[in-house]
Amino acid sequence: MTARRLGISTVAVHGAATRRPDWAPVAPPIFQSSTFTNPVGSEEEILYSRYGTNPTQVALAKKYALLEGTEDALFVASGSGATALAHLAILRPGDHLLSSEWIYGGTRQLFDQEFARLGIEVSYVRPDRVREWRKSMRKTTRAIFIETPTNPLLRVIDVRPVAALARDSGLALLVDATFASPVNCRPAELGADVVITSATKYLNGHSDVIAGAVAGSTPFIEEVRRLMRMWGQSIDPHAAWLVDRGLRTLAVRMERHNANGLAVARWAEKQRWITKVHYPGLDSHPDHEIATELLSGYGGMVGLELRGGPEAAMRLLSRLNLIIHAPSLAGVESLVSEPRLTSHRELSPAERERLGIPDGFLRLSCGIEDAEDIIGDLEQAGK
Ligand SMILES: Cc1ncc(COP(=O)(O)O)c(C=O)c1O
Repeated sequence: MTARRLGISTVAVHGAATRRPDWAPVAPPIFQSSTFTNPVGSEEEILYSRYGTNPTQVALAKKYALLEGTEDALFVASGSGATALAHLAILRPGDHLLSSEWIYGGTRQLFDQEFARLGIEVSYVRPDRVREWRKSMRKTTRAIFIETPTNPLLRVIDVRPVAALARDSGLALLVDATFASPVNCRPAELGADVVITSATKYLNGHSDVIAGAVAGSTPFIEEVRRLMRMWGQSIDPHAAWLVDRGLRTLAVRMERHNANGLAVARWAEKQRWITKVHYPGLDSHPDHEIATELLSGYGGMVGLELRGGPEAAMRLLSRLNLIIHAPSLAGVESLVSEPRLTSHRELSPAERERLGIPDGFLRLSCGIEDAEDIIGDLEQAGK
């Protein structure tokens, strides 16, 4: 008899459904220890927190694999660490990586600066044109990388045709779905081999931890674990415990983020002083249809362009009270930032313009406050 697969909210709270022994703590214990006693002469796996074998690290990884629907998973010290290690587990000097060009600026820097130094070539394609992917493949191409929904334009990529192409060509498909969280999208179900997430964002959700995670097959995660040990990238047990605590409310937080994102986007679309609203839940968004098909919710991220451009944006930012002007996203409190000065600052203004991120573009991360209060703050600051 196969067990019924648990719902995502249940998994986020409990992980696997196992009956607990009497007198067990309801909240999971934290093993805040770098090392553990070793039986004399034992050749069994060593418990050591840099190896990722600390029970707090192990329990969190198991829960995340269940959430993503993959064989295994691993947490590391940051989302950027997760992106780097996931790729390095697959790519060797001389290999070529085909990447979407709509990606987080930090990932772009990693590819252009560090991967180039390692002899790994990266080229970029517009991810919404499947023919472009095929045309850009080389003999040395080993993997494809996609981010969805994208930072900061919230474009939603149809992962399925790219997954089919990767499968037919023997390539690995890696997907960073940080902006969705496994509640809104599970890329492995759409054909991705590897899921990457910045756990700093929705998984933890409280703006108090830096962490990242990789999910995929057991042999792949083994290779990431090997690199993690060697490059010293493990997650601290306390950070792992906090991410686990965040996971327990992930599903209800996402419900509110989704509702607030939609409410703010619908309101923003009616304001004359806001010239463009980027939100996949709006009919006006270029990927609205595919987003409706692939996502369980449109998320809490909203892109705004104001009449009056960068000056109007600066004016708005300096008048906000509730919404905090800070980089990062996906916490319980609403945050706003300008990609030109934060996530995409390494790109030239011309390159940002070409990608559709003009100066003055605002990236708003709707928290879980009352939607009317987020809107009220925008209204008083934008008037
Ligand atoms: C889509 C995406 N992936 C990865 C990262 C990197 O995450 P971290 O800051 O945890 O290294 C970010 C950070 O903003 C991001 O937006």
